Amino acid sequence: MRIDILTILPDLLQGPFSDSIMKRAQEKGHLELFIHNIRDYSSSKQKNVDDYQYGGGAGMVMSIQPIADVIEKLSSEREYDEIIYMTPDGELLEQSTCNDLSLKGNIIILCGHYKGVDDRIRQHLITKEISIGSYVLSGGELGAAVLVDSIVRLIPGVLNDETSALTDSFQDNLLSPPVYTRPPEYNGWKVPEVLLSGNFKKIEQWREEKALERTQERRPDLLK
Ligand code: ADE
Repeated sequence: MRIDILTILPDLLQGPFSDSIMKRAQEKGHLELFIHNIRDYSSSKQKNVDDYQYGGGAGMVMSIQPIADVIEKLSSEREYDEIIYMTPDGELLEQSTCNDLSLKGNIIILCGHYKGVDDRIRQHLITKEISIGSYVLSGGELGAAVLVDSIVRLIPGVLNDETSALTDSFQDNLLSPPVYTRPPEYNGWKVPEVLLSGNFKKIEQWREEKALERTQERRPDLLK
């Protein structure tokens, strides 16, 4: 899968992809990641990427030209399945969207800033708008990092069996059951007996019960 991220703060995106699973996904060839500095595409002398909003009011708006140019350049080189804009008023990111996007070939992700982008970009160039939660971040970069991580870990071969995505919370609309590791007792706090029993049928049954219990307690909306 190829992902192109468009940003005015490329340095902010170096960290999340240079470690652990995201790094390995790139090394193993599952992910080709390109980070483009929108400012490099500005045709103005001062390399401006924003301007005052029409109609007045506080806050700058990201200009069309540099964003349209980078999208046009990339789109002339290959076909993109989605051109996504990270914004707090987009559709709330859910596991089902991550699953769908993990099957795509090429994706562009645009990170907004200030008051947002000139709405004509959204009307004419963007195919999907995503929010990672009902709160406002300083920019779309952290949201883009969350989105890419949630997608890339689902690409077959990225995770090994031990960390398989199939048993994640949300994959079957249930939260994950509690997990334990050694020692079997710490400070008098004991691991549930059934997990030490070696009876895999019983263990599986216990896990299913606990997953349901947790979901009922914490996220009853998932069961509807
Ligand atoms: N940009 C600012 N806030 C955001 C959010 N909650 N989700 C995605 N992008 C954003």
